[in-house]
Amino acid sequence: MQKKITVVGAGNVGATLAQRLAEMELGDVVLVDIPQLDGMPQGKALDMAESGPIMGYDSKVIGATSYDPTAGSDVVVITAGIPRKPGMSRDDLLKTNAGIVKAVTEQVARLSPDAVLIIVSNPLDAMCLVAMQTSKFPRNRVLGMAGVLDSSRMRSFIAEALGVSAECVHATVLGGHGDTMVPLPRFSTVSGIPITELMTPERIAQINQRTRDGGAEVVKLLKTGSAFYAPSAATAEMVESILKDKKKVLPCAVYLQGEYGINGLFVGVPVKLGAKGMEEIVQVKLTHEEDAALQKSAAAVKELCCSLK
Ligand code: APR
Repeated sequence: MQKKITVVGAGNVGATLAQRLAEMELGDVVLVDIPQLDGMPQGKALDMAESGPIMGYDSKVIGATSYDPTAGSDVVVITAGIPRKPGMSRDDLLKTNAGIVKAVTEQVARLSPDAVLIIVSNPLDAMCLVAMQTSKFPRNRVLGMAGVLDSSRMRSFIAEALGVSAECVHATVLGGHGDTMVPLPRFSTVSGIPITELMTPERIAQINQRTRDGGAEVVKLLKTGSAFYAPSAATAEMVESILKDKKKVLPCAVYLQGEYGINGLFVGVPVKLGAKGMEEIVQVKLTHEEDAALQKSAAAVKELCCSLK
């Protein structure tokens, strides 16, 4: 049977993701937005369906402003939320988006009780906790998309600096999806060669910082929104690994229960992604310095989650 993927939020990230998923023929796609915007998700879905003959895909794309068409989804991606508006504090945004993610999760968990949830809405690590508490899904079926995106940014910067194909560059970024994220040069390679063998510490430090500022750099240029091409590509890679049971090892935000010395928080770590969702947390030995940075990042996530209460 054809797989079904629901994408909630038909804005920049959601619509671009729906297009990528259809083009990858990973399954039929249901694109959902709020009733006040009735016609918008349907119009985008129709437009995507009409590009199928040219792009060579037969995936169905359905737009909706109710949840009935989402029933029985294998994967549900939540991109719903509002961007920060002038005069709005970080806490206000946190509470508004938490309310949105909670309401969306209630609907999708009821109609797709066996789905794997992938959260994209920001602030990411806190929104994952809201989705897990609301859905009551086991932790293997609630994942946050951040690490794949942050690593992809780092990969592109390394490729650019060394003048090599981005395809043979791998990078690892752990921690929360914010200023305290932890790029790990020791686990970042060009065809297996650690970048620490290929670049000066100064150059690596610059790349690490640009990675941490990756989201902000795009926002500054766009002026009217945040990144969506790379975020949607990162999410599509996660969906593919789950639906094809590829068991890719990717950095994702997952609920830690003692792994890496962190308990009761969503933090980005390397995980194996397959048909069951998160199938294993890959634990690597960190240096004292790397571990300290990861603990600092977890503390920042904890603070965010505490301000939700
Ligand atoms: N149910 C469904 N959709 C909703 C809801 C809701 N309760 N509330 C808001 N939305 C929709 C909006 O109507 C909008 O179409 O979510 C969409 C968000 O789209 P954009 O504003 O274009 O934002 P986008 O750039 O896609 O980012 C979405 O992903 O990367 C993160 O920080 C980003 O949290 C943000 C999210």
